[in-house]
Amino acid sequence: MRYPTFFEIVEITSTTSVGHSLWLKPNRAWPTQPVPGQFAMVWLPRPPKGYDLSVCSAIPMSIAGWDDGNVRITVKDLGLTSKALLACSPGDELGLIGPLGVGFSLDCKQPLLMGGGVGAPPLLYLAQMFAAKGIEPITLLGGASVSEIFHPHEFPGTVDIATDDGSAGHCGRVTELLEKYVPSRLYTCGPEPMLVSGLNWAVANSVPAELCLERYMACGVGLCGVCSLDEQLVCQDGPVFSSDDLINSAEFGRIAREAGGSVHVVQP
Ligand SMILES: Cc1cc2nc3c(=O)[nH]c(=O)nc-3n(C[C@H](O)[C@H](O)[C@H](O)COP(=O)(O)OP(=O)(O)OC[C@H]3O[C@@H](n4cnc5c(N)ncnc54)[C@H](O)[C@@H]3O)c2cc1C
Ligand code: FES
Repeated sequence: MRYPTFFEIVEITSTTSVGHSLWLKPNRAWPTQPVPGQFAMVWLPRPPKGYDLSVCSAIPMSIAGWDDGNVRITVKDLGLTSKALLACSPGDELGLIGPLGVGFSLDCKQPLLMGGGVGAPPLLYLAQMFAAKGIEPITLLGGASVSEIFHPHEFPGTVDIATDDGSAGHCGRVTELLEKYVPSRLYTCGPEPMLVSGLNWAVANSVPAELCLERYMACGVGLCGVCSLDEQLVCQDGPVFSSDDLINSAEFGRIAREAGGSVHVVQP
């Protein structure tokens, strides 16, 4: 839905360094339940105390949960706008345009989910949707240390953890856990180098994969072109792409665009 809806923050949960979850009640319900992987453009109609209007631009946020029309987003403190969102309290109002983009498919009997960083919230919603269909997902969660692992106790099914410093689970990259499993599909979201490793593993093992890209977005609705990837727009044709879509991409894992369209090289 491309016109704004205003939501009241009704509850703030899971307040850890990996993200605060804001449960939002709409003043006018979205006509359809979002698909996991879809996102919303979220903005503050007015700045919280101590902030100025510069924090009121819309930023993309994955849908992290849904409860009878109420929407969950999970915000990590990454910069000024996210800090301002984290300064909000129950009763404050946010604007959302959404649900936007193409989400994950749910027609899978043995799903393997892999996430890290701000890529984990959409996988939580995906895991919950699978569980609601009676399918038990396996989820791999990675982070620099145990404090960076996204709310593992909230995921239904099996959770396998990897940390760079060995403070929880396997000591090493989350992608090193992949070889333990034989799924019917890999679902992944997180930093692009992790997605590239996931894609390479999936192709080498003939496992179909769906990858959710978190590229820079300015408008979120197909107008500005900043999120372009080859000849596609991540905000409209994605953010979820299939392994077949990405395997021959000239830009995935190589170059990305930032504010204003400036191009930078994706660090491996
Ligand atoms: C589809 C999608 C889903 C996302 N879901 C979540 C989520 O569930 N939770 C969460 O905490 N974050 C999520 N993000 C990232 C979030 O949008 C950015 O972290 C946020 O915009 C940072 O803004 P800032 O002003 O706080 O930080 P800044 O200081 O402006 O930037 C901090 C970091 O965020 C990136 N960033 C800044 N603006 C954008 C933008 N408009 N689009 C994409 N990246 C940006 C920058 O490249 C930088 O790495 C998502 C991004 C995308 C594209
Ligand atoms: S963010 Fe503007 S076209 Fe995708």
